[in-house]
Formats: sequence, structure tokens, C-alpha cells
Amino acid sequence: MTKKNKAYSKVKIVVTGGAGFIGSHTVVELLEAGYLPIIIDNFSNSQPWIIDKIKEITSQTPIIYEGDCNDKTFLEEVFQKESSIEGVIHFAAFKAVGESIIKPLDYYKNNLSSLITVLETMQKFGVKNLVFSSSATVYGEPDSCPIAETAPRKISPSPYGKTKTICEDIISDTVNGCKNISAISLRYFNPIGAHPSGLIGELPIGAPNNLVPYVTQTAAGIREKLTIFGNDYPTDDGYGVRDFIHVVDLAQAHIKTLQYLTKHKSPFYDVFNVGTGKGNSVLEIIETFQKVNNTNVPREIGPRREGDIATCYADVSKIKKMMNWETKKTLEDSLRDAWKWQKSLK
Ligand code: UFG
Repeated sequence: MTKKNKAYSKVKIVVTGGAGFIGSHTVVELLEAGYLPIIIDNFSNSQPWIIDKIKEITSQTPIIYEGDCNDKTFLEEVFQKESSIEGVIHFAAFKAVGESIIKPLDYYKNNLSSLITVLETMQKFGVKNLVFSSSATVYGEPDSCPIAETAPRKISPSPYGKTKTICEDIISDTVNGCKNISAISLRYFNPIGAHPSGLIGELPIGAPNNLVPYVTQTAAGIREKLTIFGNDYPTDDGYGVRDFIHVVDLAQAHIKTLQYLTKHKSPFYDVFNVGTGKGNSVLEIIETFQKVNNTNVPREIGPRREGDIATCYADVSKIKKMMNWETKKTLEDSLRDAWKWQKSLK
């Protein structure tokens, strides 16, 4: 068997948004698990050089197509050319909560239409398995924590959050209606950290919206100080509490999900939380970051951010039991890796 044939005998997985934060880490895990990832990315919120870093980490080369998932002709060309695709992991979407409030139509148009185009293309080419990037945002303000998958979905305050809820429904209806696609929505809690190599990580455009990239940029001197959005929440220390999961653990959950999907022959749809099952406060994050990295994060207390909830952490017993997945990394690992990545960007 020639080298080329050997590569093509691997199981092919299309990864939309495969150059993005969670996408790139998932591509690394796919390569290391023996899959052949086919990245589709338009690089609207990611960098082409991430692909070289993926090659450096894995000593393997993913297939890459530059283009947009809303472009049906392009997507069909990719599926036609590659043929016998085992599954799709659909990451490609707009993801900034604040921006979605200002540009709701962009979010509805892009996030819904790209998913519909992916599903249509899967149907046309007989691709049977879909993993969808959903979010804990679909729970809105939960009645209690930890949040199980059986908790009601509530209306999210942002158009971004609403697109996740609607996308879940589109997938569920498609699975029910077409009877030849299986799909799982993974509801991510708060992904943080970076690959331990320090070669790939999150690349926010402009000022970060999320806590950990803001912390790393402040420690690096790029931002003057971190504003903490409120310390008067009804939590143990008054700071907001979230479930911060290392991006490599999260990426590995996608491999388990693919294995779970392909193990079940009859089409089905299901949802799984992906988190650590533990809540940490904003203050704990800052203090742990300072301690493990021996650095300082200048900060001030500001008002609460609109739409923020006090506490959000996952019940992860379902994914543990049904997929035998659990986190391997600690909060310290996440914050060490996030800092290593930040320093590599200087
Ligand atoms: N925070 C600050 N200062 C900042 C940024 C964040 O104090 O500069 C606080 C927030 O108030 C919150 C916590 O840090 O208490 C986490 O905030 P993030 O913005 O990092 O994350 P969110 O929990 O708000 O949102 C994340 C994802 C969303 C997803 C949501 C699901 O970014 O995409 O989790 O619960 F929808």
C-alpha cells in the first residue's frame, strides 16, 4: 500500500470550523486517534497558520478546504471529491454573545443557514453522523445546579444563544424526519486553556469577551486591567461561578461522541453536557492563574454584565456513563496552558 492509499484508508471526518479554537484542538485529537480530518474553514475568525501548528503537533497532515459552509456548491464539491465520509463535526458558526445582540440577523442567517446546508449535503451524500457544537447557553438561567440534560431549555438573552437552541431543534427534527442521520448536540460549558504544546490556542479578535483570554492578555500587559463583572452575586464569594473545561478534554469528548454515534446503527438524536461538573468562581480563576503562573492580574470590580447569570455548572453523569468520557485535566492545567499559549504569541 502506498503512503497515499494508507492515508485514505482512514476514517474521514469533516470538521467545519476546524481551524478555530475548539475545532483545531479536535482536529489534533482526531489525527492522534487515527482519523483523517477534512477541515472546512473560511478563516473569518481563525488563522491559516494554525494548520501548520496542527501538523507540527501531530506530524500528520489534515485535508483542508477553504470556503464557507453556507455555500452549497462548494460544500457539495468537497463531499463529492472526498466521498465515503463517516461523519461531520459542525463547529463553524459566529460565537460572540455581545456582537449577536448588535447584529442579530447576521447570527441567525449564518448559524442557521450553515447548519441547514450541512444537513442537506449530508443527506445528499448519505453521510450518517453529525456532532453539533451546542452550548450551556440553551439552559438560560437554570433553576438549580448542577444542570442535567433533562433541565428545561430556557430562552437565552442573546441571539447567539437562541441560534444554538434553534439549531438543536433543526437537527432533532431532521433526524426524526429523514430517518438516516444520527446526531448528538454537545452542550459545552466554558472551554478554556490551550494545547499543552503551546502551539495552538484561542485567538480572540480585538478585546476578548471571555474571562480567561482577558486574564491572560492582562497578565501579558496587553490590557491594562481586568474588569470583574460584579462581586455581589448570590454565590459563596459573591463572584460569578462557571464550569471551566480544558479544551483538550472537550476535544476528546468529540472523539468519544463519534465512537458512540457509529456504534449505534439505528438513527437517533441526543444531547450531552460537556463540562467538569464543578463550579469555580471568577475570583478562584484569577487567584489560581496568578498562583500557578507566578504572575499578577491587575483588576477592578465593575458592574454586572447584562445577561450574565450567577452560577452555571454541569451535571456530567450522562456523558460519563454512556460514553465513558471524563475530564483528565485540572483547572491548574488549563490556566498553565492558557498562559503558555499567551506567552507564545508575543
Ligand atoms: N467575566 C468578567 N470579566 C470579563 C469577562 C468575564 O468578570 O472580562 C466574568 C463573567 O461575568 C462570568 C465569567 O467571567 O461570570 C465567565 O464569563 P465568560 O464571558 O468567559 O463566559 P460566559 O459564561 O459568559 O459565556 C460562556 C461562552 C458562551 C456560552 C456560555 C454558556 O462564552 O458562548 O458560556 O453558558 F454561551
